[in-house]
Amino acid sequence: MKVKISKSTIALVVVIIAIGWFFVSSSDKKSPNQNNQAQNQTSLTTNPQNTVTIDVIANQFSFNPNPIRVKYGDRVVLNITSQDVTHGFALPDFGINAILNPGETTTVEFVANKRGRFGFYCSVPCGVGHVGMRGNIIVE
Ligand code: CUA
Repeated sequence: MKVKISKSTIALVVVIIAIGWFFVSSSDKKSPNQNNQAQNQTSLTTNPQNTVTIDVIANQFSFNPNPIRVKYGDRVVLNITSQDVTHGFALPDFGINAILNPGETTTVEFVANKRGRFGFYCSVPCGVGHVGMRGNIIVE
């Protein structure tokens, strides 16, 4: 009897969680679509015009190329390869912070929807030169 009650209680809780998750995930899906629609209506210039893929090398203690130059409106894909130890790639103005595992290529992407010079930096302690491991993306 006791076992039966706890099983049905668990089943009920699972159903409640599933229903709750459904509503949370469906509301998550709605808001970005609404934002995209609003952007499309207000400004065509923020739509990606062109995809630019750039290979970037990370090693102690620099990124190459640096600076990285792109055009306003580009969809920018960075394939970043760490040649030695674990580094990070943080570009806070575009909401990016990635871990770069040794010997691996990590892809990050964003739309260059702001003009100017934006700093990026290594976000994982990687040695004595860590704090100087930084660079710029220039959106022209
Ligand atoms: Cu590279 Cu810290």
